[in-house]
Amino acid sequence: MSKKILDVLNGTTLTPPPLWMMRQAGRTLPEYRQLRQKAGHFLNLCYNPDLACEATLQPIRRFDFDAAIIFSDILVVPHALGRHLDYKIGEGPVMDPLNPQDIENLKSDEALEKLEPIFKALQQVRQNLKNDKALIGFCGAPWTVATYMIAGRATSDQAPARLFLYQQPQKMKKLLEILADISADYLIKQIEAGADLVQIFDSWAGQLDEKGFDFCAVEPVKRMVKRIRRRFQDVPIIGFPRGAGLFYQDYAQKTNVTALSLDWTVPLDFGSQLQNQVPIQGNLDPQRLLAGGQALKEGVEAILTKLGSKPLIFNLGHGVEAKTPLAHIEKMIDIVSARGNPQG
Ligand code: CP3
Repeated sequence: MSKKILDVLNGTTLTPPPLWMMRQAGRTLPEYRQLRQKAGHFLNLCYNPDLACEATLQPIRRFDFDAAIIFSDILVVPHALGRHLDYKIGEGPVMDPLNPQDIENLKSDEALEKLEPIFKALQQVRQNLKNDKALIGFCGAPWTVATYMIAGRATSDQAPARLFLYQQPQKMKKLLEILADISADYLIKQIEAGADLVQIFDSWAGQLDEKGFDFCAVEPVKRMVKRIRRRFQDVPIIGFPRGAGLFYQDYAQKTNVTALSLDWTVPLDFGSQLQNQVPIQGNLDPQRLLAGGQALKEGVEAILTKLGSKPLIFNLGHGVEAKTPLAHIEKMIDIVSARGNPQG
């Protein structure tokens, strides 16, 4: 049985389009909250293959999505490089802020070994996932991971990392290169363990100016894509430079990613133009899904109308909100699957 998402990533248009949701594992499901409680610390979930496998499969059981995304977090990479990491309830991730002199002490050699439980989890998921479902591996883009390492937490505009870039561009370049190489090797290992495709999350790409975008978002991801393709020529790579606006076009061309995931601020006509270049994933505003009703219906239908006749993977424009009613998710799935169905 073929995997619909892989067909789309190969350039086929499917009606209805295949569908999954960013951050589908973890945020909304009651069965996740139970698992999370059992695990205690969030990192215990990420580093326990049985629990991570279970969290990955929960949204598939409930919603029959076309893809599972491995349960983990983008910050396991700096954690594996030896940086302190904690998750505080209500605050999100907290790290020790990175000083320029810490860069040479990052432990690249040992990092992949520490991430071994995640590769085990991928193998377990693959064994338990039906053949027509795709398994998605992922990591954070070097820039987004660097912003957390430098600030030690999420800030509204990641100003500390931007200041670091302007004050110490050579140190930033070095940091991004280290992260690019280890992240590419990490994705290669995920593919070896059973991931059918990978996604690179650059959640803070939209904070960069034109020169900064090229230096911090394009160059490191281009380096990663090259490194992954040396090992796996054909495995699809989805780039998600959230908030990249007009830079999306350049990003696709220069990084050589297979497909683009669009955030909800991207106008659909521009999205449709981008589809002439690469397959597109996206881009429903998660707040429309939270709102439900007319707002949800309108949002989904606009995407299907404007992007549905070229290669599309239906998704949100960013992660699903924790408080989203499960009935709204079901409604979204119903509207999408009604497309292409004669009664729909
Ligand atoms: O998509 C999935 O469901 C798979 C798992 C996944 C998690 N994080 C689990 C998680 C994925 C793909 C991520 C990506 C991630 N993590 C990103 C990129 C995407 C995005 O949302 O922008 C970023 C920036 C992070 C960093 C991070 N991790 C933050 C900001 C937070 C706190 C807020 C939150 O819930 O997202 C985390 C913690 C985290 N990562 C949780 C989960 C399920 C919640 C931890 C908990 O249960 O306490």
